[in-house]
Amino acid sequence: PPLHTLLNLDEIEAAAKTQISKKCWAYYFSAADDLHSKYLNNTAYRNILLRPRVFVDVTRASTATTLLGHKVATPLYVSPAAMARLAHPDGEAGIARGISRFGAMQIVSHNASMTPEQIVADAAPDQVFGWQLYVQTSRAKSEAMLARIGKLRDRYKFVVLTLDAPVPSKREHDEKAGIETQLLVESSKSEEEKAKKGGRPDSSSGVGQQLFWGTAADLTWDTTLPWLAKHTDLPIVLKGIQTHEDAYLAAQYARKNPGSIKAVILSNHGGRSLDTAPPAVHTLLEIRKYCPEVFDIIEVWVDGGIRRGTDIVKALCLGAKAVGVGRAALWGLGAGGWKGVERTFEILQGEIETCMKMMGVTDISELGPRFINTRVVERD
Ligand code: FNR
Repeated sequence: PPLHTLLNLDEIEAAAKTQISKKCWAYYFSAADDLHSKYLNNTAYRNILLRPRVFVDVTRASTATTLLGHKVATPLYVSPAAMARLAHPDGEAGIARGISRFGAMQIVSHNASMTPEQIVADAAPDQVFGWQLYVQTSRAKSEAMLARIGKLRDRYKFVVLTLDAPVPSKREHDEKAGIETQLLVESSKSEEEKAKKGGRPDSSSGVGQQLFWGTAADLTWDTTLPWLAKHTDLPIVLKGIQTHEDAYLAAQYARKNPGSIKAVILSNHGGRSLDTAPPAVHTLLEIRKYCPEVFDIIEVWVDGGIRRGTDIVKALCLGAKAVGVGRAALWGLGAGGWKGVERTFEILQGEIETCMKMMGVTDISELGPRFINTRVVERD
């Protein structure tokens, strides 16, 4: 169907499903075990109510903000997600092109299907990118990647260290669909990777497990952050924080080591790592309750389960500075290449603005807990 007839993210996802391979669909759709966290991510937002104020001139509303000091036109960003070219040849560069009109930030996955250089090659000069790292058992490989990203520092402004996937999870959709080695090889970004992926034709595991190969499981507060500081001077964002305790530790670390951690991303990896891990919004509520000072020390970003502009506005009201989408960008790409990503962002950005105006808010900075009723989610 023509992209302009797709009116919401469910329709984008359904359209993508008809365009992409079964294997690609299974990999993107999949989540850990019974998919409870994946679905909870969204239902958590549904159970939070808005408290709109009326009698406000809402002719105009601005979503502009800053993330780690960089200007962006919207707090909506693209989360790091592997292998965009499985969905469409436009790949990660297509995602960059699709979101450029909205002045949104993009975090590029460690397992992107294009090189970091290719992805930013045609990006608008003011577009903000981050690069996501899975630390490898071969630290030398990670150090080489960090050096490479350091050379692209006018484009990649920070490094995201993902912590919520120390071991591969069980993703049954992905595993059942098996692996088309040829497909992985074709969408690899380098000859070295092609050889690596081609050399492991294991049809009993999914794409997720194949990509995981080589990832380190021995990361700790004491060892990994000092190591990282030696190999990059870009600001660090910790992704996959799921409790107020770890958010607090991150803030403490940031306080003691200025110039290190600048933000945390509350995320359960789109439900793909540990099933029944909490949705980001629950962790946001925990932080508000037990250690709200975290919000003053580091930026708190969230992702997982975003389907509507109202979800985004709710997260912002509860203290998030930015809100990411993983699958939505991939589904957009699958539905229509870079134009599908553009349509996805047009829908979400439109919904954010409508929501703000309905709430009597004309600037994103006005959003706060007074606009939110969390009694339903905090009942227990
Ligand atoms: C991911 N995610 C992810 N995260 C990460 O840090 N590095 C990665 O390489 C990937 N790869 C990846 C692939 C696919 C297909 C998906 C769907 C997700 C997780 C991602 O960054 C984000 O946390 C979730 O996607 C957010 O949930 P939603 O928006 O997909 O519901």
